[in-house]
Amino acid sequence: MDARADYERLCREILEHDRRYYVENDPTVADVEYDRLFARLRALEAEHPDFIVPWSPTQRVGALPVSAFPKVVRAVPMLSLDNTYDENELTAFYERLVRGLGGARPALVVEPKIDGIGIELKYDAGEFVLGATRGDGTIGEDVTQNLRTIRALPLKLTRPVSVEVRGEVYMERAGFEKINAERVRAGEEPWKNPRNSTGGSLKLLDPREAARRPMKLLTYEVVGDGPAKTHFELLAWMKQLGLPVSTEIARVETLPELLSAVEGWADRRMELPFAVDGVVIKVDEIAQRRELGATSRAPRWAIAYKFPAEQATTRLLQVDWNVGRTGAITPLGHFEPVELGGTTVKRASFFNANQIRRLDVAVGDRVLIEKAGEIIPYVITVMERAHNRRPIEVPANCPSCGTPLVREEEQVALYCPNTFGCPVQKARSIEFFSHRDAMNIEHLGPSLVAQLVERGLIGDVADLYDLTAEQLVELERVGPKSAENVIQAIAHSKKTATLSRLLIGLGMPGIGEVWARAIAEHYQSLPKLIAATPEEIEKTLLEIHGFGDERASAVARFFAEPRHREVLEKLIARGVSPSEPKIERSGPLAGLRLCVTGTLSRPRSEIQAEIESAGGVFDKTVKKGTHYLVAGADVGATKLNDAQKKGTRVIDEAAFERLLRGEAI
Ligand code: IVH
Repeated sequence: MDARADYERLCREILEHDRRYYVENDPTVADVEYDRLFARLRALEAEHPDFIVPWSPTQRVGALPVSAFPKVVRAVPMLSLDNTYDENELTAFYERLVRGLGGARPALVVEPKIDGIGIELKYDAGEFVLGATRGDGTIGEDVTQNLRTIRALPLKLTRPVSVEVRGEVYMERAGFEKINAERVRAGEEPWKNPRNSTGGSLKLLDPREAARRPMKLLTYEVVGDGPAKTHFELLAWMKQLGLPVSTEIARVETLPELLSAVEGWADRRMELPFAVDGVVIKVDEIAQRRELGATSRAPRWAIAYKFPAEQATTRLLQVDWNVGRTGAITPLGHFEPVELGGTTVKRASFFNANQIRRLDVAVGDRVLIEKAGEIIPYVITVMERAHNRRPIEVPANCPSCGTPLVREEEQVALYCPNTFGCPVQKARSIEFFSHRDAMNIEHLGPSLVAQLVERGLIGDVADLYDLTAEQLVELERVGPKSAENVIQAIAHSKKTATLSRLLIGLGMPGIGEVWARAIAEHYQSLPKLIAATPEEIEKTLLEIHGFGDERASAVARFFAEPRHREVLEKLIARGVSPSEPKIERSGPLAGLRLCVTGTLSRPRSEIQAEIESAGGVFDKTVKKGTHYLVAGADVGATKLNDAQKKGTRVIDEAAFERLLRGEAI
C-alpha cells in the first residue's frame, strides 16, 4: 500500500518538474536530479508493473504546452533523448546498439547538444509556412511569427521541396549577456540562462520585440529523413536547401573513438559561442536507425551524454540588500569562495525576497549553486540546513536612505519609494545616464558618482554639466589629470549624444534602444518633446506601430512628473539638447515607406516583418511620404483616393515581391 503511494507521489513530483521545465522554462532541479528521479520511477515500474498509471511520466512523450499560442498537432511526435553521464553508461548504450543490430558495429556521429529550445519548421514547396515548439512532443505551439524574425531561418529554401525539419533555437552567450544587461538596467529580473531567455523570446506576443532578441538556429533532423542514407548526407542535403546545420560533427567507428570524441568535447565546449549541456551521439546510417527504432519517449539510435553540471556546494555567509536604480531592493548572497566552471564564485543572486522564502535558506546553510548556461551563478537549493542558522531578515527600511520599503501590488520585488531623495537611487540613475549605451560618459565610474552624490555636488543628471575640475580634485582618489578627463568626457557627451541615447539614459520603463529611437525619430528634439502634454505624448506614441498601451502610458507618466520635466529643462539650459540623425537603413527597401491594405496572400504582420527586415519602414496608414501602398484584391476606393492625394504609388503583391527581391518595378 505504502509502496504504491510512494510510486504515485514520485509520478506527481516528476510531472511537476516537467511543467516547470517545459511550461515555465524555469526548472527547480538540476537535470541530474531529474534523471535520478526518472530512473527510480522506471525501476519501480519494472518491479511493480501493476502500479503503472496512465498518467505516469513514462507513458507519454513529454509535458504540457502553455496556452497563448495556437496548438499544432503533429503526426510524428518530437521525441526526447535519453541521457548518459559516464563511460559505463555510454559503453552500455554502444553495446545495446550492437545487440540491436544483430552484432553489426555501427558508425556513429557526435555533435554538440545545444542548450536551447527544440522546434519544428514546416516548408511547403520551399516556403516556410509553420514553426512550432516541441510542447509535449505531439502538441506544440505555433510560434511562426517569432521564428520568422530569426535571421538564420530561411523563409524560402533553395528548392521548392515540401519538408519538415527539426532543430534548436538558442542564443549565443554574448548576445544573451547583452540582453540580460539591458534587462537589469531596465530594472527587470535577469534571465537565468540562454535557454530560458530563448523560450521567453519565442513566446513574446510582439514579433518586433522578438526580432530584437539575438536568437539563432541550427537544424539537425528531417522528418522522414529526406533522400539521405547517412547523417552526413542528410546534413549536406539540408545545407544545400539553405538550412543552418552545425559543422561541429565528428564521425567515429569504434567505442574507444567514441569515448575520446566525447572526452574531447568536455574540454572544448567553452570554445563554442553558445552554451552546450552535453553531446548527442547518433547512429550514422539511416537504415540502421530504422532497424533500431524508438520507444514512445526517445529513439534507440541516439543518446545524450551530459557534461557534469556546473554546480558546486558552498556556505552562505551573508546577505546584502542592494538598491537598484528604480528603487528595487534585491538580495545578493555572499558565499565561501568556490571554484565553478573555471572561475571563483563568491557572490550569487537570489533575485528577490520571495525566492529566499521559497528556498527556506538561512545564513550558515550549505547551498547548491549553479552557473546556469555557464553564466550567472544562482542558488538552486539548500543542501544542508545549519544548526546555528541565522534567518535572513528582509529589511523594513531602505538600506540607503532609511525610508520604509513598500511592496507594490502583484509585484514580487520590494521598493524604496523615495525615488528622488534616495542617494543610491540617484547615483544609480546617474550611472545609467552615463552608460556606454546612453550618453557614453567615460571615466565616470560608480565610486566617483557615489562620492559626488554623497557630497551633494550632484543631485540629478543635469548637475553633471555644472561640475568643475576643481570640485573633482577635492574627492578621494581623483588627481588633476583624471579630474580633467572626467570634465572633458562630460563636455564631449553634450556634443556626441543623440536624442535617442539621451532618452535611453533617462531610464523610462520599457524604453530601450528601439523605442527610444522611435520616440526620437518622431519628436526630433528635446524642446519639442517637453512642449507636448503627457496626454499628447501618449496619443502620439500609440500611433507608432507596435509601441503598445503599457509602454506609451509609462512614458506619459514619466513626462507627467514635474521633477522629470525640471531635470529636462535644466539639461536644455546647459546646452544638452541633441537632435536625432536620420538613420541609414540597408536592404532592398532602404529609404522606402510602405503601407499595406486589403487581403493579401499572408497576414499583414508577416508582410510588415518582411518590410522591416528589408530595411523599409512600415506605415500603418498612408501618410505624406509613404512611397508605396501594397493593395490586396478587395482594396476600397477611399484608400486608393487617399493614396492618390498623398502621391503614394499603388502596387500589387507581385510588384511588392519584386521590390523585396531588389528588382525594378
Ligand atoms: S537530436 C529524436 N541533436 O535536446 C530526438 N537534439 O534532450 C532527436 N538537442 O529534444 C534530437 N542539440 O531539442 C538532437 N544536436 C542535437 C541536439 C538536440 C540539442 C535537444 C533537442 C532534444 C533535446 C533532448
